[in-house]
Amino acid sequence: MRHLLDTQTLAREDALRILDVAEDMADTQRREVKKLPTLRGKTVVNLFFEDSTRTRISFEAAAKRLSADVINFSATGSSVSKGESLQDTAQTLQAMGADAVVIRHGASGAPRTLATSGWISAGVVNAGDGTHEHPTQALLDAFTIRKRRFGDDSRGRDLTGAKVTIVGDVLHSRVARSNVWLLHTLGADVTLVAPPTLVPQDVTNWPARVVYDLDEAIAAQPDALMMLRIQLERMNAAYFPTEREYSRRWGLDANRLRALGADSIVMHPGPMNRGLEISAEAADSPRSTVLEQVANGVSVRMAALYLLLAGAERDSTTDAATTTGGDATEKETTR
Ligand code: NCD
Repeated sequence: MRHLLDTQTLAREDALRILDVAEDMADTQRREVKKLPTLRGKTVVNLFFEDSTRTRISFEAAAKRLSADVINFSATGSSVSKGESLQDTAQTLQAMGADAVVIRHGASGAPRTLATSGWISAGVVNAGDGTHEHPTQALLDAFTIRKRRFGDDSRGRDLTGAKVTIVGDVLHSRVARSNVWLLHTLGADVTLVAPPTLVPQDVTNWPARVVYDLDEAIAAQPDALMMLRIQLERMNAAYFPTEREYSRRWGLDANRLRALGADSIVMHPGPMNRGLEISAEAADSPRSTVLEQVANGVSVRMAALYLLLAGAERDSTTDAATTTGGDATEKETTR
């Protein structure tokens, strides 16, 4: 794997490989010493042009647990605010010897531009581009659903038969887009629930069904109910009458939480608007996987960085990362 840019074009076998290596990584994160020497000598640059807390910290933790050197570059306070272009920034990183660039950018397509421009030779990971995609978020969500479904027996399995319902601001959500593609690739059945104003026009081409009534969607007993953040910062018009009205019709309140099946989980990528799309009862309930998603995010990002930076060398020799059933990370330590 050279880059991780989207889930729309991510093959099923590559997705499963990332999830399986993430299982190995998660195992190592239960040890007392969490750090592995796997990416010693490699440099990972976190290039963040948009605000982020958990995604940036998660990539930083992932790279550090694999012993890579990490450079955090955020657009505020850098030359970007003086008008430096993506090209100049990228070429500077190249000159500094970046092996992987994790990029978050407000423009959809910026990671692909970076990966295909020829400006850098580093592997590129999309950490969220505009309203386009956020592939590692979808992978950590799939990992979380799979883990809840199959527990320690998750490796090699897809999500055939899982019913996943994604609720809220689909229009502005790269999380929703990445999830729709990946969940479909993994065999899950996807339903979107949103006010008509927050459903994108091109949704007819997506492998998902759209409904407008949350109670109806909950009555269908999904295995996972994924609540999306209302992205007020991306809204330049009134997409719903009032926040109160939104939360009454599309928010996950205590009553709707009770109506969910006993085994269904409640997901949210964070940051949450408590009281708007999700009530405190739902966010803090035992069926909420919000913090599990955060923890799994580190394992999934470790897997992605490993496959980008160490995986390539291994491809030609042995496929130890996924097919031996062994601990790829363990073998790395002996090199
Ligand atoms: C998401 C994002 O930035 O796209 N958050 C995240 O990565 N944790 C979703 C959001 O901001 O609502």
